[in-house]
Amino acid sequence: MKGFGSDNHSGIHPQLLVAISAANLDHAPAYGTDSWSENSLTIFKRIFGAEAQVHFVFNGTAANVLALKTVSQSFNSVFCSDISHLNQDECAAPEIMGGFKLLPLPSKDGKISIEALQKALIRRGDQHYPQASAVSLTQPTELGNCYSREELKAIIEWAHKENLFVHLDGARLVNACVYLDMTLAQMTTELGVDVVSFGGTKNGLLFGEAVIVLNKKLGENFKYQRKQLGQLPSKTRFIAAQFSEYLGTPLWQDIATHSLKMSQLLYQETKSIPGVEIRCEPQSNAVFAKIPQAWVKPLREKFFFYVWDENTFECRWMTSWDSTPHEIYEFANLLRQLSQNHFLPFPKGLQ
Ligand SMILES: Cc1ncc(COP(=O)(O)O)c(C=O)c1O
Repeated sequence: MKGFGSDNHSGIHPQLLVAISAANLDHAPAYGTDSWSENSLTIFKRIFGAEAQVHFVFNGTAANVLALKTVSQSFNSVFCSDISHLNQDECAAPEIMGGFKLLPLPSKDGKISIEALQKALIRRGDQHYPQASAVSLTQPTELGNCYSREELKAIIEWAHKENLFVHLDGARLVNACVYLDMTLAQMTTELGVDVVSFGGTKNGLLFGEAVIVLNKKLGENFKYQRKQLGQLPSKTRFIAAQFSEYLGTPLWQDIATHSLKMSQLLYQETKSIPGVEIRCEPQSNAVFAKIPQAWVKPLREKFFFYVWDENTFECRWMTSWDSTPHEIYEFANLLRQLSQNHFLPFPKGLQ
């Protein structure tokens, strides 16, 4: 069943499947020593800058844990938003596998502020207290909105002034780049981000994420830590071949542009339906909407999606590289029908 469950629910983009197939030749050396890996590294460096160190891993949780391990030790803490994937959806892997403490901060629309960071930056040098080493920002946030360029710049400058490193959880970074009309380098290297978890899976790859260490003073022990965490892919060529196709052609922009257009269409088609209360105009590939509880079941019988907040019935409708206008119109029609039935005037005589 197609729907708006997640960009993780869609399949592999056909162009990437072709890239995998093209790499499926003969034998090749393993563990990143093959020509596909070398080629993809050249592409990453072209995009993120010559200093970028790139390491492939299997999934986003591992990318976050390993990225943050480059900027923290066992006595460190990392600031993140209270609703971040790191804090809420990684089953304490950052603490257990990363070996550092997360310090979740109150967020507004998924974003943390300098004020909240400043307030939490306490007891530095106190041997009894976990020592803050980094700030982790999710771009776009878990609520689908984006930190503006100015917001990012201000937080990064503040963090560096306070001797904190900056990590970007960019599981969907390309979506933010397209929305904000920024290049990947403008969003990361040029702003001084130290380390990035760069996603692929949510934008059409079979699987594969890249940890991009941009600060040349970091990452010395990455390869050992990745191996220890079971994240060193042996047949690396199949991840590398996908990233080369994805980043070496306009594919990443095409996919992100399409899924943004589809979420904006979904927003336009549903925002005026009585009973639907949308959080804000989408800034990436997700629409967050409160609907009456009774609508969830009939809608989900045709189009799967997640209820994001079980108390308010705010739902997340997420588009993907393969979302179509047709299914959005169908979904909106279904919502309209439910709305009409819900707000049916009382029959005459009963008023
Ligand atoms: C913002 C964000 N970061 C990281 C991840 C990690 O993903 P994975 O499920 O691949 O570990 C996700 C997955 O949904 C995510 O939404």
